[in-house]
Amino acid sequence: MTVASKIEEAGFTPASRIAAIGVSKILQIGARASAMKKDGLPVIILGAGEPDFDTPDNVKEAAKAAIDRGETKYTALDGTPDLKRAIAEKFRRENNVDYALDEVTVATGAKQILFNAFMATIDPGDEVIIPTPYWTSYSDIVEICGGVPVLIPCDAEAGFRLKADQLEKAITPKTRWVLLNSPSNPSGAAYSEADYRPLIDVLLKHPHVWLMVDDMYEHIVYDGFQFVTPVAIEPRLKSRTLTINGVSKAYAMTGWRIGYAGGPKALIKAMAVIQSQATSCPSSVSQAASVEALNGPQDFLKDRQASFKQRRDLVVSALNAIPGLACRTPEGAFYTFSGCAGVIGKTTPKGKRIEADSDFTDYLLEDAHVAVVPGSAFGLSPFFRISYATSEAELTEALKRIADACAKLA
Ligand SMILES: Cc1ncc(COP(=O)(O)O)c(C=O)c1O
Repeated sequence: MTVASKIEEAGFTPASRIAAIGVSKILQIGARASAMKKDGLPVIILGAGEPDFDTPDNVKEAAKAAIDRGETKYTALDGTPDLKRAIAEKFRRENNVDYALDEVTVATGAKQILFNAFMATIDPGDEVIIPTPYWTSYSDIVEICGGVPVLIPCDAEAGFRLKADQLEKAITPKTRWVLLNSPSNPSGAAYSEADYRPLIDVLLKHPHVWLMVDDMYEHIVYDGFQFVTPVAIEPRLKSRTLTINGVSKAYAMTGWRIGYAGGPKALIKAMAVIQSQATSCPSSVSQAASVEALNGPQDFLKDRQASFKQRRDLVVSALNAIPGLACRTPEGAFYTFSGCAGVIGKTTPKGKRIEADSDFTDYLLEDAHVAVVPGSAFGLSPFFRISYATSEAELTEALKRIADACAKLA
């Protein structure tokens, strides 16, 4: 059901720009699972897109100190000078990329960075190349902005990564952006320098195409994976790349709503025009907290990474032990994206045939009381996403229930 048809039921006609946008399957499943839980059913929800850690204490203290100093008013439109300095320093220190302060922007979450960037650059019919599986917000935001998402399937055999020949074929005179996300939500797949290089070579041949990279999960990588951002590999792309990041996932700050990006000055200025009429500025207190997150101690990130790795290993090995499922080991983020081709065509104990991954995830919710998200919600089937940002005890129980549910299929 689309947003438009849902709202029309209430006797109201929404704008055509949202007519084609579907209500997020992730939110639908979350709402259903929460309702079941309220009814007393022992539902385990593996859908959360946020770390289960708390925001670090030094960050909370910095926010309290900012309030006490009276930093409770509007700030500079696209970020305080203090935060922009901390971000520029972060890009230098961690990514080996130099951005001047007027090449840095701050918004209310990386989501608003994406929104500002697409609003500021997309004319009707402009195309944005998005490898799938993809974070659903990408295509929805592009559509809201009047653009056309060009979705390129990238299967498990390809490591869920876009290949150079696919990119070359997808580029047209209307291509405005290519959007890459590493490590990825939902697949956890990440691009090494060697994976990026052939894509960069294609982009160098097509100067009208801009690159947007979403590095949100940069700090959640495993097995010695070397995170790298494209501009560090190829400085010639810097004049047409927007490098997006944020504090939400690395510092467990999803509720503070701060995202940021580095990019060419003219783009950053255009994005500020959109922001000026949307929110005026990001939250003053959250910006002060983010300065501390970026400038403060970073050593705890390694411990959190180790904890996520343990959980990743638990989930991947449990999934691969279940006949009918096949899970690639992700390089990063806190998601697994497991294939479920082996259960398609089977029948549940209640006699319902599983035709698609969404039938399988419906069955897991109804029968095993485990909420996961079907691959169709991320543009690639038949798969399902587990978020393992929850306790090992819950994960163990959930995986046992999934195994039992699969064993009951005929
Ligand atoms: C790949 C990716 N990018 C960006 C975001 C949004 O982050 P923020 O909380 O900064 O809006 C998310 C959140 O789920 C995400 O998964």
